[in-house]
Amino acid sequence: MKRLVKLFAVALLVAAVAAVVVYRAVNRVPSADLPQYEQVYRIFEDGGCLSCHSADPKLPFYAGLPVAGKIVMKDIDSGYRAYDMTAFMEALKVDGSFSPVDLAKIEKVVLDDRMPMPKYYLVHWGSSLTKAKREIVLDWIRSERIAMYNDGLPEDRVSEPVRPIIALQDETLSAEAELGKALFHDTRLSVDNTVSCATCHDLSTAGVDNHQYSHGVDDQLGGVNAPTVYNAVYNFVQFWDGRAVTLADQAAGPPLNPVEMASESFDQIIAKLKADKEFAKKFEKVYGSRGGLTQENITDAIEAFERTLVTPDSRFDKWLRGDDSAITAEELEGYENFKKYDCATCHVGPNLGGQSYELMGLRKHYFADRGLELTVEDNGRYKETKIERDRHRFKVPGLRNVEHTWPYYHDGTREHLEDAVRDMGTYQSGVELTDAEVNSITSFLNTLTGEYLGERVTTSNSREHIHAHDDDHHHE
Ligand code: HEC
Ligand code: HEC
Ligand code: HEC
Repeated sequence: MKRLVKLFAVALLVAAVAAVVVYRAVNRVPSADLPQYEQVYRIFEDGGCLSCHSADPKLPFYAGLPVAGKIVMKDIDSGYRAYDMTAFMEALKVDGSFSPVDLAKIEKVVLDDRMPMPKYYLVHWGSSLTKAKREIVLDWIRSERIAMYNDGLPEDRVSEPVRPIIALQDETLSAEAELGKALFHDTRLSVDNTVSCATCHDLSTAGVDNHQYSHGVDDQLGGVNAPTVYNAVYNFVQFWDGRAVTLADQAAGPPLNPVEMASESFDQIIAKLKADKEFAKKFEKVYGSRGGLTQENITDAIEAFERTLVTPDSRFDKWLRGDDSAITAEELEGYENFKKYDCATCHVGPNLGGQSYELMGLRKHYFADRGLELTVEDNGRYKETKIERDRHRFKVPGLRNVEHTWPYYHDGTREHLEDAVRDMGTYQSGVELTDAEVNSITSFLNTLTGEYLGERVTTSNSREHIHAHDDDHHHE
């Protein structure tokens, strides 16, 4: 009997050692002779990431089994719902260009050692991200980020996911931007000469109107909250649903939008502008050799102006550039929390957003909790693509000057920044933030207020005044 136990113990030991040897062998890091990106590619290929993060995963044999299969399919569904890794892996194959959001998301799961999860790597030997593999990935992300931004941050901040806004080299406007500025403030773009871009994007009120929904010609009400025009140049596409790729494309929208400026056509606008001899002459001087007063040149001028609407020199940007005294200890703690709770995986880069479409309600059903009837606008990106996965996905809003751009969300349902922060924890990050955390994150967000041409961004609108106006409107 005793011998049997001993024998068994020895057999167990041998099996354990063998397991460790095999496990080590299958978990070896890729050869250091390979270029860094290729090492990273192999690590993620071994990691099985695409089996849960792509539209058409290669299913393991046990996906067909009754119980195991159900668990697997659930992970695949929620993995793909949370994150599509296909574009990133394709870019890795050829050392192409990477989305800053991919870098941030992958960095975060690697830092937290969250992916792949144990139930996956215990079955798929060789897939776990060992410390050595994680180091390779993190090193590579750091160097990619430095190359991507090239904004001269000091060594200890050079790999932050949030980046400073680059100030204009020269604050004097180009001739095109000068015309764009005039057009931005020109009510003749609207059918009855009452509404300009600035009506809804007042530069002296943080580039927004502070209304839940905007009021167009005849005081008609839109169906989605107006984002700011400040720093829009940093967005990878424009509008909540991304239906305009460039600022010029975007600028062609509002003039003809029936509830915004409601002009019948650009010809109608051009006829009005042509009748203004002085303006027509100025326009001709700049664009004469390029066709003169056309839709294309009008929107080109507006884009040229919008490219100058950046707000550098916030206190946080000073901190990023190395000035430790620019923000308080609480604000810094807020930034640490902002990173800890995944906020900086969607709100990345100089504009803290505007780089990807993300699901509103990733971790909890936002629209069910909201209780209001669903609107067309709630569909988000789906409106454009008609792909089911895109339903309720929105271009992530930037967070620059966010203390002044209330109310929040595409539906403008959050009045106060604290409320938006708290629900982001619930719906996007899956955590109930404590009051102290909400306060620190909000105080960090307040450090993102910058300057436009040397003047601090602010808003002169008061919430009381706005409410009085909206109530009047609803009672009409
Ligand atoms: C067995 C399926 C599975 C595998 C394999 C897997 N993931 Fe995931 N992944 C998930 C699921 C499920 C979620 C969503 C988790 C949640 O919502 O809490 C997720 C979420 C993510 C996210 C989004 C961040 C987040 O927390 O929502 C990233 C980024 C990610 N995974 C990266 C990876 C990488 C990189 C690999 C390979 C090393 C990998 N995943 C392997 C299932 C998987
Ligand atoms: C009646 C109010 C109104 C007027 C007038 C208006 N906008 Fe907007 N603007 C909005 C709303 C609302 C949105 C969001 C619409 C959406 O995403 O579908 C928006 C979106 C934008 C965006 C996209 C920002 C982002 O982060 O996606 C830019 C840029 C912009 N407008 C510039 C302009 C310009 C330039 C004009 C004049 C040609 C103009 N707007 C006229 C209300 C208005
Ligand atoms: C998975 C991506 C994701 C994560 C993680 C995330 N957000 Fe967001 N955030 C979004 C999207 C998408 C919206 C727009 C939602 C809408 O309008 O319906 C948004 C909106 C916001 C807004 C409102 C901005 C405005 O102008 O309307 C704030 C403030 C904000 N997020 C802060 C945070 C904070 C703080 C965290 C961390 C606790 C966080 N976010 C985590 C994607 C994300």
